[in-house]
Amino acid sequence: MTEQKPDRRDFLVKLGTGAGVVGIGTQAAASLRSLLPNVSYDAPTTVKLGKTADFPDGLKFLPEQRLFVFREGKVFHAVSAVCTHLGCTVRAEALSQPETVTVGDAPMRLTHRFSCPCHGSKYTGDGKVVSGPAPKPLAWYHLSVSPDDGQLVADLAREVGRDFRLTLA
Ligand code: FES
Repeated sequence: MTEQKPDRRDFLVKLGTGAGVVGIGTQAAASLRSLLPNVSYDAPTTVKLGKTADFPDGLKFLPEQRLFVFREGKVFHAVSAVCTHLGCTVRAEALSQPETVTVGDAPMRLTHRFSCPCHGSKYTGDGKVVSGPAPKPLAWYHLSVSPDDGQLVADLAREVGRDFRLTLA
């Protein structure tokens, strides 16, 4: 009878020690995990721009997204307003006479051209460089319509060619 007491005590001490180690380990892991953020601070690449009905025919500038959205009937495309030289926001200037040009195998009516206020780069209405120092054309971005709420969605991480057009059904 007296020989069983140390075994039982020893077992309980080991059980208590084990529980303590597990508890401390769990707490330490939780503390370390709390140092890692649960959210991503990267800017989202897709942005909702508003209902398609809010875009009249012609050009609409979206300053927050630094984006020009063009609409011609049911056809949309989006051109970046970020100058490819050093990133200033380009300005749209209305043409005195709209031009129809072939852009990506399809005719496109250009109503504007772009100029950069910082160092004077000029671009055509479809974003091609007319005069530098801009090294390359303005980006075009992918557009779609959100199935949730019918808003126009631009993916600012997805550049597309100048043949891209979003055509509403
Ligand atoms: S940033 Fe536009 S021309 Fe330099």
